[in-house]
Amino acid sequence: MEELRQKYLNAIADAADEAALEEIRIRALGKKGEVSLKMRELGRMSPEERKTAGPALNALKNELNAALTAKRAALADAALDARLRAEWLDVTLPARPRRQGTVHPISQVTEEVIAIFAEMGFAVAEGPQIETDWYNFDALNIPPHHPARQEFDTFYMHREPGDSRPPNVLRTHTSPVQIRAMEKHGAPIRIIAPGRVYRSDYDQTHTPMFHQVEGLAIDRDISMANLKWVLEEFCRAFFEVEEVELRFRASHFPFTEPSAEVDLRCSWQDGQLKVGEGDDWMEILGSGMVHPKVLKAAGVDPDQWQGFAFGIGIDRLAMLKYGIPDLRAFFDSDLRWLRHYGFAPLDVPTMRAGLSL
Ligand code: DAH
Repeated sequence: MEELRQKYLNAIADAADEAALEEIRIRALGKKGEVSLKMRELGRMSPEERKTAGPALNALKNELNAALTAKRAALADAALDARLRAEWLDVTLPARPRRQGTVHPISQVTEEVIAIFAEMGFAVAEGPQIETDWYNFDALNIPPHHPARQEFDTFYMHREPGDSRPPNVLRTHTSPVQIRAMEKHGAPIRIIAPGRVYRSDYDQTHTPMFHQVEGLAIDRDISMANLKWVLEEFCRAFFEVEEVELRFRASHFPFTEPSAEVDLRCSWQDGQLKVGEGDDWMEILGSGMVHPKVLKAAGVDPDQWQGFAFGIGIDRLAMLKYGIPDLRAFFDSDLRWLRHYGFAPLDVPTMRAGLSL
């Protein structure tokens, strides 16, 4: 009996895994196991022998079962330990870097411009990029054969042969949105219209697609003085300087009378633009009092209403504010350029704090 006990206890202690343990259990306590067979022999013993052998065999059976259970638990623990060691990972390691996209300078500047004019009560209006001849030209007091049409390097859309309507155009400026907004909302109105415009032109400062923001303010008594203040406030906020000086230069646009081009006092230091000081002037926009014919074309009575309009080049603003020398690079989709000049997605548009309204 003691021999059996030692044999199986040793075997259990040495078992390498669950399968080995199960084999040992069957060999000792299974139906034909050594201990089970011994128990069966009890029947052939004398009552005297049975009295001692019975309890001894039972005790052996219990001891082996307990040893098996304990070993099974120990093996499971060891297996878990091994797995934990093998599958261990350091959660404090830095994550693999993943490239994040950036906000294009045009998008950033557009957001900045919208934020500044929103503070001054201008809503954002939009119009189509494929525009009719009428909205892009006629309604803006540029009739057919007007010389201003030649200045625009217009892209014309295709018309089927035999279709005598004037071709649609890729809008050459955001000014047609003035007409669409006044048709829709009437007067009074205060809007800006940022968006893409197209002209057949290509060099360091011109691309066939570029961006403008149109401004329009119509009410009973709006004057050039209001225009001047709005533009000064805009420039102070946009270029983040305390003082700006604007120069209104008499000019001509068919859709405004009088018309003015506006220059910004600035200087260049080591290729960096300084706004508000210096001896240079930088042209930044066209503007004027909206021509009565334009109001009329949009269904607004020029005897009751008047106001100003302006058009600013957004790409120009971005180049100036962020020191970007070549316009063409804006639209090359060169990832190195985009990473260098792009803005973090969560950057809020920058503007001078405390716009004094
Ligand atoms: N549409 C003009 C252009 O693209 C810019 C412009 C000038 C817009 C004067 C205006 C304005 O609203 O009043 O060259």
